[in-house]
Amino acid sequence: MTSTSTQTSTSLATDPLALIDVDHVRFYVGNAKQAAYFYAHTFGFQIAQVADLTTGSRDEADYLLTQGNIRLLLTTPLTKDHPAAEEIKRYGDGVKDIALTVFDAEKAYKAAIANGAESAQEPRTLSDESGTVTVASIKTYGRVVHTFVSRTGDYDLPSLKKGGKFMPTFAHVDSPVNAYNKANPCGLKFFDHCVGNVELGKMNYWVEWYENVLGFKMFKHFDDADISTEYSALMSKVMASGNHLVKMPINEPAPGKKKSQIQEYLEWHDMTPGCQHLALRTDDELHSVAELRRRGVDFLKLPDTYYDIVWDRVNKTLQDHGHEAVKEDHDRIRELGILVDADDEGYLLQLFTKPLQDRPTLFFEIISRHGSQSFGKGNFKALFEALELEQERRGNL
Ligand code: FE2
Repeated sequence: MTSTSTQTSTSLATDPLALIDVDHVRFYVGNAKQAAYFYAHTFGFQIAQVADLTTGSRDEADYLLTQGNIRLLLTTPLTKDHPAAEEIKRYGDGVKDIALTVFDAEKAYKAAIANGAESAQEPRTLSDESGTVTVASIKTYGRVVHTFVSRTGDYDLPSLKKGGKFMPTFAHVDSPVNAYNKANPCGLKFFDHCVGNVELGKMNYWVEWYENVLGFKMFKHFDDADISTEYSALMSKVMASGNHLVKMPINEPAPGKKKSQIQEYLEWHDMTPGCQHLALRTDDELHSVAELRRRGVDFLKLPDTYYDIVWDRVNKTLQDHGHEAVKEDHDRIRELGILVDADDEGYLLQLFTKPLQDRPTLFFEIISRHGSQSFGKGNFKALFEALELEQERRGNL
């Protein structure tokens, strides 16, 4: 190792690429105009900004959807030669880019490349009289990239959070659904974690990649003893940035009698790794899930027997570690079908949607944390049995 790379590794260990936030998550979709209405109506996003033919974007249309500190960017190709067209053919709609805000995108990109990343797009700067946005991308697992984004002037992150323009090519738009969503908030605040599914035997490769390239550290891990049912299993390691702002669990299938949910994902994703789910944080799980259900979000259903045992398990764990019991109304939690788990630090409430598109690939998780920083390990068994029922309905078990 040269002295330069040693120095880079040392600084990365303490402040890995100085990640500031998840800048946005970009989906490639078959029809961004329609997808924007789906995510706005069902999940309460604001349709905030657009870059399309009317703003001079000739090869793709982009819709920026916002809620709290969550920014979804829906991109659809306008020409057959756009790279998104080929990806949509292979993978259907899904996550292309988990973009990270940094202080200097070019520096972050160069550091990542020096640490072994493969380039997806060289640095380029978009600018106008309001400021600049510099972007540069590296490839991560499968079809996913990480774009480093640095912002100056009116394009800086604090301005963007207050509704400022996303990038020079974008224009603000309004939609009647925006006023409705303001009056009826779903309460989603930020990305809690972004999960990747990789191939059998590749989890540790990507764990090391996040350590070496982005200076992430392992936060939690689960093996097939934690996450298995009679039929199927997976293994998972959670990688976190130095400041813990960005958490990226990596799953791989584990052998079982029947097909792992990870294997099902891969088979409907052209055997290519990709983003399995985005977990969106709320402060009030009961309100968020009730509102999302009212809007027609399709959540996974667990058997009622789940609630026969969950309270003993969870409240005993909380008591053992000197924490107060779950304060939310237990009956209401059951009515809403919300899942509960506890560990030595506290508890969490979570619920998973069914796939968000026709292929059984990407889904969302709605999560609230009350001390617990884990991922619902106690729910894995019940959850995977529920997932297997869904896989069976799809003929994929
Ligand atoms: Fe999750």
